[in-house]
Amino acid sequence: GKVRAPTHIISTISDDRGEEPCYAGVPMSSIVEQGYGVGDVISLLWFKRSLPRYCTQFIEICIMLCADHGPCVSGAHNTIVTARAGKDLVSSLVSGLLTIGPRFGGAIDDAARYFKDAYDRGLTPYEFVEGMKKKGIRVPGIGHRIKRGDNRDKRVELLQRFARTHFPSVKYMEYAVQVETYTLSKANNLVLNVDGAIGSLFLDLLAGSGLFTKQEIDEIVEIGYLNGLFVLARSIGLIGHTFDQKRLKQPLYRHPWEDVLYTK
Ligand code: ACO
Ligand code: LMR
Repeated sequence: GKVRAPTHIISTISDDRGEEPCYAGVPMSSIVEQGYGVGDVISLLWFKRSLPRYCTQFIEICIMLCADHGPCVSGAHNTIVTARAGKDLVSSLVSGLLTIGPRFGGAIDDAARYFKDAYDRGLTPYEFVEGMKKKGIRVPGIGHRIKRGDNRDKRVELLQRFARTHFPSVKYMEYAVQVETYTLSKANNLVLNVDGAIGSLFLDLLAGSGLFTKQEIDEIVEIGYLNGLFVLARSIGLIGHTFDQKRLKQPLYRHPWEDVLYTK
């Protein structure tokens, strides 16, 4: 019989060998003719399946709400400085993307991991938060530089409102809200931030859709798919900041001496 030569690469999400490329088996023409959106394409290429409309709409809302947050945040700042150093689009973009991590925009996966573990183990918000404190770990998804208990993040509110209306269950999100109630009783800056909102709500999306096995959910959380949402979203804004600086013909950036404390 035929002997299959061993391959050096295995791939399961897309295939361009036929008449037209397919994403998770769905041909490009169906994607266009059936009016698929970016949320559907993400579902196919990341989760390898079509998701119901409320899920793809939620993904698209995450992308839209996280696309930009002004010029002062870490990512935009890096991108602006790089663009003003005369670098190209890709360099300016990745310079900004490289700031995404545990403090800025990249706390979604850890928020999902810790909230899931705490909820599934039945920890009270008090036990969870104080347990984290004992371990010296900041609660991912909690805290913000400018948002406060009396000046909440509108993005969080919008995501919560959408999920409460469309998701079959928002148990992880409600748990995150209880955690926030406890952390706000400790300090006014310890709000549920957009990373925490997306992390907890994505757990609800995965568990509530009925389309993922428990093992698949654990794998998604363990591998860490969810920071990808912020990376993808914020790329839109960082590209915009690059064009903005080029359009404005901004010169090389140099930080003012007066804003540095020179000390021994
Ligand atoms: N869990 C527990 N305690 C916290 C947390 C947290 N998540 N965040 C801040 N605190 C505490 C700090 O320990 C600090 O107390 P201390 O001075 O006694 O140590 C106090 O609150 C003030 O903290 P600051 O360091 O002044 O807060 P800062 O404004 O620098 O930090 C940040 C903001 C980085 C977002 C922080 O809250 C944090 O690390 N959060 C967890 C990571 C996270 O969710 N990042 C995503 C933010 S949203 C986004 O980037 C789109
Ligand atoms: C963001 O989305 O970039 C912000 O939440 C971060 C910030 O510090 O404002």
